[in-house]
Amino acid sequence: MNNSNRPLDVVILAAGQGTRMRSALPKVLHPVGGRPMVAWAVKAAQELGARSVVVVTGHGAPQVEAALAGTGVTFARQARQQGTGDAFLSGAEALPHTGDADILVLYGDTPLLRPGTLREMLADHQARGSAFTILTGELPDATGYGRIIRDDAGNVTRIVEQKGATDAEKAVREFNSGVYVMDARAPELARQIVPNSVTGEYYLTDLLALYHAAGAAAHAFKLTDIDEVMGANDRTGLAEAEAILRRRINTGHMRAGVTFINPDTNSIEDTVTLGRDVMVEPGVILRGNTQVADGVTLGAYSVITDSVLETGVAIKAHSVLEGAVVGAGSDVGPFARLRPGSVLGTGVHIGNFVETKNARLSDGVKAGHLAYLGDVTVGAETNIGAGTIIANFDGVNKHQTSVGAGVFIGSNSTLIAPRTVGDAAFIAAGSAIHDDIPEGALAIARGKQRTMEGWSRRYWGGMREKVGQKLPWLAEWLERQ
Ligand code: UD1
Ligand code: CA
Repeated sequence: MNNSNRPLDVVILAAGQGTRMRSALPKVLHPVGGRPMVAWAVKAAQELGARSVVVVTGHGAPQVEAALAGTGVTFARQARQQGTGDAFLSGAEALPHTGDADILVLYGDTPLLRPGTLREMLADHQARGSAFTILTGELPDATGYGRIIRDDAGNVTRIVEQKGATDAEKAVREFNSGVYVMDARAPELARQIVPNSVTGEYYLTDLLALYHAAGAAAHAFKLTDIDEVMGANDRTGLAEAEAILRRRINTGHMRAGVTFINPDTNSIEDTVTLGRDVMVEPGVILRGNTQVADGVTLGAYSVITDSVLETGVAIKAHSVLEGAVVGAGSDVGPFARLRPGSVLGTGVHIGNFVETKNARLSDGVKAGHLAYLGDVTVGAETNIGAGTIIANFDGVNKHQTSVGAGVFIGSNSTLIAPRTVGDAAFIAAGSAIHDDIPEGALAIARGKQRTMEGWSRRYWGGMREKVGQKLPWLAEWLERQ
């Protein structure tokens, strides 16, 4: 039977409270790998090409819905958390189409489930002509999970919850992950679920018996890697999920030709791309839409967000980049900060304690130490001396500065924006530049030096006794005068 043309709808259960997180934040919004857990389920659904995705919300519903706004999903509020069966039905009733699709059920707190695994499960569901497929796994001790009960022929007959299980059933290693693919009858059958006699909750697992009663075939699809359905219930579970995801991502990069010195210390979001022969030193964190080209070195404890690093760039230790573009062969840091709108050409040198923001630095610009370059364009090969400040803010507005190519800015100069400095101009050290400078000119804007001979002898000589107590070298020097 070829069902592959049936559409897929997805219901994500995310209304539960998650008290064990001990948090003001709803459980499913706790981040793993830089995304709220529930966003992983949404992403997986969308990667499978789901036609509609409904997220069932309850505890913290406004926050969960706000976090997922703009993702194209719809929400169904579960009025009271009366169990997974009730949650599913709330979601299924919010699906815009009915009767023609397979329905995939996911949880909002299993961020490690791979879309590839779900794709295999869907293919198996379709290939077998199954009406109801349960994603299962095996654990030496499956305490806490619903157990999969099979008959002598190996067919799945029931799912028993921990609370209702006999000792023999508790010994069963195969467990229910809570992920299912169902045919289009599921919502109608779910309406027949009655409250569990022990807990009073509506169990979605009761669908299995209802499918059987309807004469339909149910199957289990067994996971090979049970980490995929590890739900994070508390902060230790969250850290474990993070570690598993981190290893998964970093191993993928290593297989593709990236060197890590101590990969357990590196958090790299799955949105980041790394070229070949990239070197990742300990403690580096890479986030968002960061793209790293071949041969880049990422120095220890650097944090890089939404940035593009071209071939051969060297980021040195403890640098922080956000929304920056760094041209080929440039080097940045240690202790540099490139803020949004920083665009560096090729072979640019940014040294320690240099901050850039909304700054376009052309090829070969050098700012070796201690500078603030904000709202500025700088031409090729310009040298920015230590302590240079672009004073871009007047207390209310930001102003733009343009510095030409081949300019030499002497140390500890302030350029008071808005300012234009022509090509090949020269600014003397310590200048406060408040007028524009034409091409090729020298500007000196600092107090003229006065040198007063013998001044120190008079000054210290007026307090000889104290100098004698505190500054013995100077006291001897005074004696010699
Ligand atoms: C459920 C399964 C169990 C399975 C386990 C896997 C049932 C009856 N049992 O158990 O067989 O082994 O998952 O983790 O389904 N939720 C709602 N609304 C509710 C209740 C739950 O949205 O009223 C959501 C939760 O937020 C969670 C998911 O459904 O994402 C599962 O709920 P949970 O209470 O963890 O189910 P279990 O009792 O662990
Ligand atoms: Ca659970």
